[in-house]
Amino acid sequence: MDLERAYLLQNYSRYPMVLKRGKGCWLWDISGKRYLDLISGIGVNSLGHAHPRIMRVIKEQASLLIHSSNLYYHEYQGPLAKKLSETSGMQRTFFCNSGTEAVECAVKMAHGHGRRLRDDKFEIVALENSFHGRTVGALSITGQPKYRKDFEPLMPGVKFVNVCDEAAFEAAVTDRTAAIFVETIQGEGGIYPISAEWLRKARELADRHNALLVFDEIQCGIGRPGTHFAYQLHTPAVMPDIVTMAKPIACGLPLGAVLCNEKAASSIGPGMHGTTFGGGALACRVALEFYDILDELMPQMQRVSAYFFDALRQLQRKHSIIKDVRGFGLMIGVETAFPCRHFVRQGMEQGLLFNVTHDTVLRMLPPYILTEKEVDRAIKGLSKIFKNGKPE
Ligand SMILES: Cc1ncc(COP(=O)(O)O)c(C=O)c1O
Repeated sequence: MDLERAYLLQNYSRYPMVLKRGKGCWLWDISGKRYLDLISGIGVNSLGHAHPRIMRVIKEQASLLIHSSNLYYHEYQGPLAKKLSETSGMQRTFFCNSGTEAVECAVKMAHGHGRRLRDDKFEIVALENSFHGRTVGALSITGQPKYRKDFEPLMPGVKFVNVCDEAAFEAAVTDRTAAIFVETIQGEGGIYPISAEWLRKARELADRHNALLVFDEIQCGIGRPGTHFAYQLHTPAVMPDIVTMAKPIACGLPLGAVLCNEKAASSIGPGMHGTTFGGGALACRVALEFYDILDELMPQMQRVSAYFFDALRQLQRKHSIIKDVRGFGLMIGVETAFPCRHFVRQGMEQGLLFNVTHDTVLRMLPPYILTEKEVDRAIKGLSKIFKNGKPE
């Protein structure tokens, strides 16, 4: 901790604990204390820690080929892109390393698409309360001023609309709009699912003005909502032109992806975009293994999710401080009647790891392998925390 204080950029305020190892849904710190991991590295450790099949492929692939750049082919990008295509309904994939890079690529696709049609078609319409990442393009379309204010002026041509204001949305989208960006379930913003009606409206406006529709599923996609993607929760599904994804896909290794249809793909020609690290052999092979396991795991996830939501709603009936329980699958928000950041430390004392977003929303993004027994353990700790209520 002292070394980090002396040598690291002081941009994080970490909790005073040092993690040593993990197994399944559990983590241990250097003192040997055990924690139930309900946040999984902010939605990343999809199969928990030290999953035997993931460990096996990492060991094997690390001894064969970790990285070779995008100058050459390797055996895993093609099969992984095929799998992503089959599960998403999109046609093409670009691999990168993180969520914000996926969004950055989608922003470039939007500009590429717009500029081919007319010089002034570069505007982006995004949602208030959204979060799309920390690089300049992604930050520019993030609808939370607290993240943007220190870095303005950012990318021009971005309009934010409130999800409750359909008239403002209609007015914001014009023939100058290159793309509409929607975080299908707002995660950082407090676990707010965007309604099917709103997604339909976004599709209609994008079509009317020949803009691309982009769904950011970096936090809410890839199995977490109980379906492969959150836009598949509704029937009929509203199909985007571009999907951005990252967090859980390679079980902790950095991997992001942009999936798109042929129309969006044609906005990027040879040499217009690229990455050195993105889509390396190790990360892609792990992601392929993850997809095999995900198919087997989905029924368990759906069952455990229902059990978890049911138990949380029972807690809500007992504790008036719980205002709302919302989310889908294993993306869960519990909203309290007052700011609840102190719950994070109380959770750590109870051996539970989760975080709080938007001051009043306790956010849980547990590993997909969570069991009913572990939910019982979580509920036991959470009951104590809710009983304590406000800090003195
Ligand atoms: C919806 C969404 N988009 C983009 C990002 C940025 O991803 P990364 O932190 O991997 O750059 C995040 C990260 O929390 C996210 O939740």
